[in-house]
Amino acid sequence: MKHLFSTLLLSIAIISQAQMSDTEIDKKVDSLLSAMTLAEKVGQTNMYNGPWEFTGPVPQDENSQLKADNIKKGYVGGMINVLTAKGTREAQRMAVENSRLGIPLIFGYDVIHGYKTMLPVPIGQASSWDFDGVKKGAQLAARETAASGVHWTFSPMIDVSYDARWGRIMEGAGEDPYLTSVMAKAWIEGYQGDDLSDPLTIAACAKHFAGYAFAEAGRDYNTADVSSQTLYNVILPPFKAAVEAGAATFMNSFNDVSGVPATADDYLQREILKGKWGFEGFMVSDWGSIGEIMTHGVARDSAHAGELAFTAGSDMDMESRIYEFYLADLVGSGTISEDLLDDAVSRILRIKYKLGLFDDPYRYSNESLEKSEVFSAKNKEIAKGIARSSMVLLKNEGALLPLNKTVKSIAVIGQLANSKDVPLGNWRAQAVANSAVSLEEGIRNAVDSKTKVTFAQGYTLTKGRRDFIHELTWVDDQGEGFEEAIEVAKSAEVVVLALGEDCYQTGEGRSQADIGLKGQQLELFLRVMEVNPNVVVVLMNGRPLAIPEVATKAPAILETWFGGSEAGNAIADILFGNYNPSGKLPVSFPHHVGQEPLHYDRKRTGRPVTNEFDNGLVFWSHYTDMTNEALFPFGHGLSYSSFEYDDLNLTPTEDGVMVNVKVSNVSELAGKETVQVYIWDKVASLSQPIKRLVDFKQVSIAAGDSQQITFTLTKEDLGFYTNNYEFVVEDGEFEIMVGTSSRDHIKQSIDLTF
Ligand code: GLC
Repeated sequence: MKHLFSTLLLSIAIISQAQMSDTEIDKKVDSLLSAMTLAEKVGQTNMYNGPWEFTGPVPQDENSQLKADNIKKGYVGGMINVLTAKGTREAQRMAVENSRLGIPLIFGYDVIHGYKTMLPVPIGQASSWDFDGVKKGAQLAARETAASGVHWTFSPMIDVSYDARWGRIMEGAGEDPYLTSVMAKAWIEGYQGDDLSDPLTIAACAKHFAGYAFAEAGRDYNTADVSSQTLYNVILPPFKAAVEAGAATFMNSFNDVSGVPATADDYLQREILKGKWGFEGFMVSDWGSIGEIMTHGVARDSAHAGELAFTAGSDMDMESRIYEFYLADLVGSGTISEDLLDDAVSRILRIKYKLGLFDDPYRYSNESLEKSEVFSAKNKEIAKGIARSSMVLLKNEGALLPLNKTVKSIAVIGQLANSKDVPLGNWRAQAVANSAVSLEEGIRNAVDSKTKVTFAQGYTLTKGRRDFIHELTWVDDQGEGFEEAIEVAKSAEVVVLALGEDCYQTGEGRSQADIGLKGQQLELFLRVMEVNPNVVVVLMNGRPLAIPEVATKAPAILETWFGGSEAGNAIADILFGNYNPSGKLPVSFPHHVGQEPLHYDRKRTGRPVTNEFDNGLVFWSHYTDMTNEALFPFGHGLSYSSFEYDDLNLTPTEDGVMVNVKVSNVSELAGKETVQVYIWDKVASLSQPIKRLVDFKQVSIAAGDSQQITFTLTKEDLGFYTNNYEFVVEDGEFEIMVGTSSRDHIKQSIDLTF
C-alpha cells in the first residue's frame, strides 16, 4: 500500500514542469521529502563515479555490484562521468525504474572548456574580456553536454590566482576579482540559460569554494593561509557574483583556509554562502575531500569527517562514500539533526526539479540531439571565433605582423607547431585526441598556394603517455633537431616558432617550481634568431611564463594559450590579418619565477620603490637582483590598430564619480580596444591596492575615428570589505586611471565624499 501511495505521490509530483514556479517546486520537494525514508534521504547526498559502461553488463566485481544495487534502491543521488545519451539512459533507468520513489539521478561532468568541441582553456577565454563571447562559448558547451545526456558541469572554476606556479591557473579567469566576477557571470549564464529544464542547458557549479588558488608556494592542494582582506576583497567576490548569477551548485575545495578544511568550513559554507548570500542551490564536495578532512588532521575518523562536513554545509559527497556509510547513523544518533539532512536533500531535489528530471528523467538522453549537436561544423566555427578573441598580441616590433598572405616562404618550427593535440588543452572532457587544427595546418590553410611552408620540429618536449592523471615523460633533448630547424629558418622569409608548454603541464596536480621554457626551446629560439631576425613567436601555454630573453629579442609574440579545436585557424587569422587581435592579459607575466606570486593590484607598502632606490640605497620594498615589475602586465594586449587616450574628465555624482575619456584610433585599421578603468583609494582605514580594476568596456573604433567613453562608478566600485566583512566606502582622494592596460593609462585624482 505504502509503495502505491508513494508512487501515486510521485506521479502527482510529475505535473508539467513548464508551469512550475519556485514556490510550486518547493511544495513538490516538501511532499516528496515527507515520503522519503532516512536511507532514501541519505541516498540523495551520495554521488558515485561512473565505474562502468552502462551500455554493457554491470561488472561483477563486488564494489561495482554494490554500487549498482544501491542505485536500484534509490541510495544514490548523482553520478559523475556517466556519459552519452545511451549510457545516461541506462543509468537513469536503474534508478528510476527500480527504486521505491523513482527519484532521478543527476549526472555531472567536468566540462571546463567544451564537451567535444574544444574552446580555448578558461584563462584564454578570460583573455578576450568579452562577456558575450565567453557566454556564447558556454552555451555551445552546454548544448553539447546536455545533448550527451549530462545535466551538470563542474564549471566555472573562479579561483582568483596570483601564482603562475599553480597549474590550475589555466582553469580560471586570472588574477583579478572583478574580471573573474564578470567571467563567472558569463559562464554561468551561458551554461544555465533562462530555463534549467531546457534540454540544451545545464546546471553550473561555481568552484572551488574557497581559497584554493592561494595554495602556499603555488603547490597544488597545499594549505592556504589568507588574510581577511584577501578572503573578502579578492577570493570571495567572484563567488558572490556566481550566486547573483544564479549558479545552481557550488563545489568546495581540497585546501584548508587558515587551518579549516574548506569542506568542513561552516563559516564559509553556511554563514557566508547560504546565510549572507542566500544561496539556495547545493554544495558538492570535491572528489574525496570529505575523507581528506582526516588527512588534514582535523577529523579523527570517517564518521567524524562526515559529521564535520555535513554540519558545515557540504550537501553532497563526491565519491568519498562517507555519507553513504555514516550519515544515517549520525542522524539516528542525533549527532546531526534530521532538519539539516532535510535541508540538504531539499536543495538537491530542487535542482533536479528545475532541471526537469522529475518531469522526464530521460529528457537529456536523446540520441538525435546528440547526433546533431555534438562536434558540429557550426560549433567549430563558433569555437574559432572565440579562440581568435582569446589571443593576445604581446609584442609587434616594426609591425612584422600581420604577415602578407603572399609571403614567399614560411618556416614553421617546434613540436608544438604541428601538434594536433596540445591545442586541446588539459581538462578536455570528450575531445578526440589529435583533433585540433594545428598551427602548421592553420598556416597552410591561410596562405597563397604559391607560398612555400616548411616545417621542422626543432625541439622535442615529451614522449609516450600524455593524459590527465599521469606525469609527463620529458625527452632529454640534446638539440638533435637544431640543424634542420636552423636550415629551414635560414631559407625562409619569415619564421613562425611555437614555444611554450605541453598542455599537460597545467591543470590539476601540475604545479611547477620553474615556469621558464622547458627543454631546448630557448636555445633553439636564440639559434634561429641568429639566422633570421623575422621570427614570430607563437606561445602555447596554460600559465604565465618567465620568458625575458624571448620578450627582449623576438620582434613579434602572440599569446594563444591552448586555443581549442580550431586553434590553428584562429592563430592564422591573426598572423595574416584576417582578425585584428584584441585580447588582453588576465594575468601578469613575470621576468622570473622568483617574483611569484605576482599581481598588478599590489599594496604600496610603507617603503615603496621610489627614486631613493635609484641612489643605490637598499631600504625599499624591492629585490636586489630583479625588478618588481611584470614582464607583461595585467591588461596588456596590442592591436594592429593604435589607440590614444586623452580628455579624461571626472565628475562627482551622488554616490560616486562619472568618468569620461576620449579614445582615438590613430591608425589606418579599424580595431577593438578594451578600455580599462582602475582606481586607487589613496587614504583609507585599511591599506588599499595602488590600483584595482573596477570597470571596462570593449569599443570598436574605425580608422582615424574617436569615441567618448563614459563610465559611472558607484559606491559598489569604490568601496571595500573590512576585516569583519563589512562593505564600506570612505571619503577621500581617489586616483582614477583609464587606459589600455594596468600599466599604460592616463590618470586624474578627485576628492569624493559619500
Ligand atoms: C577534481 C577537481 C574538481 C573536479 C572534480 C571532479 O579533483 O578538483 O575541479 O570537478 O575532481 O572531477
